[in-house]
Amino acid sequence: MINTTKIRSQFPILSKTINGKPLVYFDNGATTQKPQQVIDAIVNYYSNFNSNIHRGVHRLTQEATALFEESRKSVQQFINAKHAHEIIFTKGTTDSISLVASSFSRAFLKEGDEIIVSEMEHHSNFLPWQNLRYEKGIVLKVIPLTTNAELDLEKAKTLFTQKTKLLAITQVSNTLGIINPLKELIALAREVGAKVLIDGAQSAPHLKIDVQELDADFFVFSMHKIYGPTGVGVLYGKEDLLNAMPPYQYGGGIIKSVTIEKTEWAELPNKFEAGTPNIEGVVATKAAIDFVNAIGINAICEHEHQLLQKATKALLELPEIELYGNSENKAGVISFNIKGVHPFDTGTILDQMGIAVRTGHHCTQPLIQCLGIPGTVRASFAVYNSEEEIDIFVVGVKKAIKMLI
Ligand SMILES: Cc1ncc(COP(=O)(O)O)c(C=O)c1O
Repeated sequence: MINTTKIRSQFPILSKTINGKPLVYFDNGATTQKPQQVIDAIVNYYSNFNSNIHRGVHRLTQEATALFEESRKSVQQFINAKHAHEIIFTKGTTDSISLVASSFSRAFLKEGDEIIVSEMEHHSNFLPWQNLRYEKGIVLKVIPLTTNAELDLEKAKTLFTQKTKLLAITQVSNTLGIINPLKELIALAREVGAKVLIDGAQSAPHLKIDVQELDADFFVFSMHKIYGPTGVGVLYGKEDLLNAMPPYQYGGGIIKSVTIEKTEWAELPNKFEAGTPNIEGVVATKAAIDFVNAIGINAICEHEHQLLQKATKALLELPEIELYGNSENKAGVISFNIKGVHPFDTGTILDQMGIAVRTGHHCTQPLIQCLGIPGTVRASFAVYNSEEEIDIFVVGVKKAIKMLI
C-alpha cells in the first residue's frame, strides 16, 4: 500500500497552490515532478564534483566520471540489460530514436526495405522513420487501430514481409495509456528476421522493464518522465548491433585515435556519446532510480492502476463524457472529452481549479485523426497522486460540464 502523504512530502512543488487551489498535478505523461533527493543530487554535484568527465587525471574529473558511470550501472540494473556499455545516454527518447534512425539506417537499410510503425506512435517514433522514406526510399507501413483504438493484430500480421527490417513500436500509448501486446508483435518481427525498437517513454515509468526477457533490440526512454531530470534519455541497444552501427554525432570522446587520414572509433558506449553530456542530469538519474526502487515499480504500477480504475468508473457515469481507448490493459492514463467541447476549453476550466491536465493532440496526430476529433483531455497519474485528488478532479470535470454545455 502506497503512503501518498509520505511520498508527497518528498516533492517540494506539490505543496504549491495554483489559482488559490492546491495543485493537482495530472500531467505526468508529459513530465513528472522531482523528489528532493533528485534536486539534492544536482545541487550536490555542482557544489562538490563539477568537472568534465572521461578526460583527465585530476581528482574532480575522476570523481565526476565515477558518478556518471554509477548512473549507467543503475540504469543497466533498472532495465536488466546484460552489459552497462549497452546503455547510451542521450538527451531524451526523441534523441535516442533519432540516433537509431540515423545510425541503423546507414548501417543496414537500402531502398525498398520496410519499416513498420503503428498509428498510435508519438511523433518522435514516427517522423524519423517517415523521413527515411524521402531520404532512402524506405517503405513505411503502419499498423492500424481497431474501433477501440487498440492495435489491430490481424492486420499487423499481413504487414510483415522478408523486406521488413525494423518494427518501431511504443509499449504504452502516451495519448490513451493502452499497453500494446509486445510479445506477439516481437514474435511477428522475429519470423521475418526484423529488428525491434521499443519506445518505452510511457512504459518505463509504470511497468517493470526487462529488456532481455522482452528480447528488444533497442529500448528507449526519458528520465524526466521517471522523476529524474530533463535532458537525459536512455538508448539501450544490443551490443552486437550497436557495435555494427556508425556514430550518430561526431566530436570529442568518441574516438580511439584520429589521424588526418582516418579515425578509429572508441568502444561502446563512448562511440555514441559525442561531446560534453548533461553530466549533472545523468548523475541525478541514479537518485531518481533509487527513489523508484525504494517504493518498488510493481507497487507504483498497482497504485496508479487503482487511481485509473477510480477515475474511469467516475467518468463512465457521466453521459456528457466520451472516453477514448478504454481498454482492459492500460497504464495510468485517461483520455476524454466533454462531448461537443474543445479540449482546450475543458483544460482551461480545470486549470482554474488548480488541476493540471494536458490537452491537444499529444504529438500523436495520426491517432487523433483516426479518432476523428480535435484532441483530448489527458489525465496521467504518478506515484504521488492520491484518491482524494481523483475526487477533486471528478468535481472539476462536473463543474466544467455545467459551465461548457
Ligand atoms: C510515447 C512517447 N514517445 C516519445 C516521447 C518523446 O519524449 P521526449 O520529449 O522526452 O524526447 C514521448 C513524450 O511525451 C512519449 O510519450
